Amino acid sequence: MSEHKPRKTTEKKVPKAFGWMAEYQDENSLLAAARKVRDSGYTKTDAFTPFPVHGIDEALGIKPTILPFIVLCAGLTGLSTALLMQWWMNGVDYKYIISAKPFGITPASIPVAFELTVLFSAFTTFLGMIALNQLPKFSNPVFTNPRFDRATNDRFFLYVEAADKYYNRDSVKELLGGTHPDSLDEVLEDTTPSALPRPIILGTILLVIAGLIPAMIILNIRAGYSTAPRFHVFFDMDFQPKKKAQQTTTIFADGRSMRPQVKGTVGRGQLEEQDPFYLGYDPSKLTAIDTLETGKFVSLQEPKATDSSAASPASGLTSDGSAQTPAAPSATLNLPWIDKLPIEVNEANIAVGKQKFETYCSACHGYAGFGDGLVHKRADSLAQGYWLAPTSLHVDKVRSQPVGQIFHTITKGQGKMASYASSLNPKERWAIVLYVRALQKSRNADLSEVPADMVKTLDEVK
Ligand code: HEC
Repeated sequence: MSEHKPRKTTEKKVPKAFGWMAEYQDENSLLAAARKVRDSGYTKTDAFTPFPVHGIDEALGIKPTILPFIVLCAGLTGLSTALLMQWWMNGVDYKYIISAKPFGITPASIPVAFELTVLFSAFTTFLGMIALNQLPKFSNPVFTNPRFDRATNDRFFLYVEAADKYYNRDSVKELLGGTHPDSLDEVLEDTTPSALPRPIILGTILLVIAGLIPAMIILNIRAGYSTAPRFHVFFDMDFQPKKKAQQTTTIFADGRSMRPQVKGTVGRGQLEEQDPFYLGYDPSKLTAIDTLETGKFVSLQEPKATDSSAASPASGLTSDGSAQTPAAPSATLNLPWIDKLPIEVNEANIAVGKQKFETYCSACHGYAGFGDGLVHKRADSLAQGYWLAPTSLHVDKVRSQPVGQIFHTITKGQGKMASYASSLNPKERWAIVLYVRALQKSRNADLSEVPADMVKTLDEVK
């Protein structure tokens, strides 16, 4: 831009000269001329060729680019940024155990470090190349010479710029003239009027205005208020023929558009089976107080103030995870539990119970039910004070519970333990109860319960 400024004063009389440009027929003449120019000490030179010419950099005395060095610096910056960032985030600012990894820089930091190194380098390469070449450049005075068009076809040009510190108009002309060029022209400023043709200006203004219209429409819609329905490109269900709640209809004899539930059907989430099989207790035996307190399903009697375990939730914790957990701190349940399993006691049901227990319960309660599952161990080792150890299923409290109550614990959750009703159907829940009973028995059987013929084998084993 600055080069064009003086034009106003010197307009048309003496166009500004930017240097000399010589034209050659082949690359060898160009190379020879370039060497000569270089040896004369000129550095602000350039060559234009229809194809890459080997050795032209050296012939022009162009120094190797410093781009690789800049890229190296950028890459190292990316690398250290990534490492510093991860060290700060994971080691200082937000220390959080993730997959048991140590804090700060770990092997897991390598991918991020690698990515940032590549990212910084790639951007620097791209932007650096553009900057070092002083791009984008929309016009170059060399274009004013009509012969120059052949630079992309079959001619070779050598350009010595007036900006060179040793530049002298006559001596450069002489020097280039001595290299036997096809033509030798002074590169002059472009004096054609630079004002854009009218239609282009008008067209641009119109386009800009048209381009603003969508933005203004959107702005108007966002800021304004309208009672008209939304504009629909595709008609969606807003326009379907339908009845809304409380509207009348002529389709049904009773004139109601809302239809009552069809007899005998159960809506999702509406199954409120009043049967011990789904509840774990006998609803017909609920006392008036139970029902009052419970509403439909659950009877939660607040623990009495004298209940020591209720006083402090932390008392449920044991340091070694041996889970001699006292009563749940939250509440004790008192409902007419059933104490007979509503499913058959057979091997198939025990197998289902074992499989489901190991899937859904063992993580916390442990495979044998001692409350020493992996989730518990891990949570305990993190020593976050609020972890409540899972109750051991072998403590008297659970052992003495009727099957219905254990079923209820799985169905509705108990204290800090969540409900598993969404993952396990009632039959599977009962199978788990059966398996829990089997686990308990395995730790607490009496010799008298062993069949007589088996007692002998036991003795043998001993
Ligand atoms: C996420 C861990 C976790 C899982 C999984 C889990 N429990 Fe529990 N369970 C607990 C905790 C914690 C308690 C103690 C709750 C309390 O007292 O607040 C508990 C308590 C219990 C109790 C004693 C309830 C009472 O009356 O005090 C039983 C029985 C029980 N769980 C059975 C199961 C069964 C069966 C499963 C599998 C369906 C299971 N749990 C799955 C954590 C779990």
